[in-house]
Amino acid sequence: MSVAHGIRTLGVIGAGQMGLGIAYVAALRAKVAVQLYDRSPEQISKGLNLMDRLLAKDAAKGRISEADAKHARERVSVIEHAMGVRGLRDVDMVIEAVSENLEVKQRIFAELAAEMRPDAILATNTSSISITKIAASAVPEGESATSALGKSSAGRVVGLHFFNPVPVMKLVELISALQTSEETLSRARAFAIACEKEVTTSLDVPGFVSNALLMPFINEAIIWLERGVATRDDIDKTLRLGMNHPMGPLQLADFIGLDTCLAIQKTLYAGTGDSKYRPSVLLERMVDAGWYGRKNGKGFYEYD
Ligand code: CAA
Repeated sequence: MSVAHGIRTLGVIGAGQMGLGIAYVAALRAKVAVQLYDRSPEQISKGLNLMDRLLAKDAAKGRISEADAKHARERVSVIEHAMGVRGLRDVDMVIEAVSENLEVKQRIFAELAAEMRPDAILATNTSSISITKIAASAVPEGESATSALGKSSAGRVVGLHFFNPVPVMKLVELISALQTSEETLSRARAFAIACEKEVTTSLDVPGFVSNALLMPFINEAIIWLERGVATRDDIDKTLRLGMNHPMGPLQLADFIGLDTCLAIQKTLYAGTGDSKYRPSVLLERMVDAGWYGRKNGKGFYEYD
């Protein structure tokens, strides 16, 4: 087994579509033991059901053996709810994949920094929030924010941005905070490669490369719909058939989650002040209405 990344045990915080996908590729492809934590026990059981279905499908299609599926599933365990993220304190690396909320992430990273071993990597799957800001919260009381790079607690924080659906999408974006140490970066990269992903790097700018390009595109499609330039179906069909995109932008927005798209766009707009990132009124209203897309049954389309 390659141990360039030195990760034998991975903690995943958040068992939603991203966290579960990360747990799946880590257990099946990188073959590490995964400990899953979610504050909602219901989300954990939904996530584990999905993992069972994905493994069964891969085995049925002959991509992996029944034994591979069984071993991957056995590598995944669940942190007892009452333990909270403290339950992950002995793992070699944590990947946080909770919703796009800076305060929530900062709370989690402050707790992780206080609990975990100094050599553990603390990664976030954020799709737009500053890794530097998150790293700044991972400095335990009594430690200076300006400790030498490579030695500071913040130096073990890194952005590891997976794409949805994680089992299928080939990319991971690697983002260095100002504080991230070279060792953390190279171990995180090696881990992503062990999960059979290709890695690109981006500076810690709002939205990184991926969402700084994708979100204005999605937002513009929503503005086109709002203005009545074309119907929902024609906007999506234009991009699918005219440009060979696997999904049209409205379908993709539903797939990502309209609440997530809005949160990313707000981060982009606040972080740059550039009006090209201002979220459309229609997107805001749909989220106000509680229409989050595929995850809860209604967005630009309806789902069973
Ligand atoms: N989880 C796991 N696997 C999934 C899945 C999910 N949620 N959804 C689909 N798949 C799998 C299917 O099981 C299927 O696998 P098999 O080949 O083993 O059967 C495979 O994906 C293809 O699925 P389908 O045949 O059902 O459908 P499709 O050919 O239309 O592909 C798709 C589905 C892969 C999602 C494709 O439509 C696609 O690539 N869409 C664009 C996705 C995209 O752009 N993702 C990035 C979003 S941005 C992001 O994630 C980052 C961010 O920060 C917001």
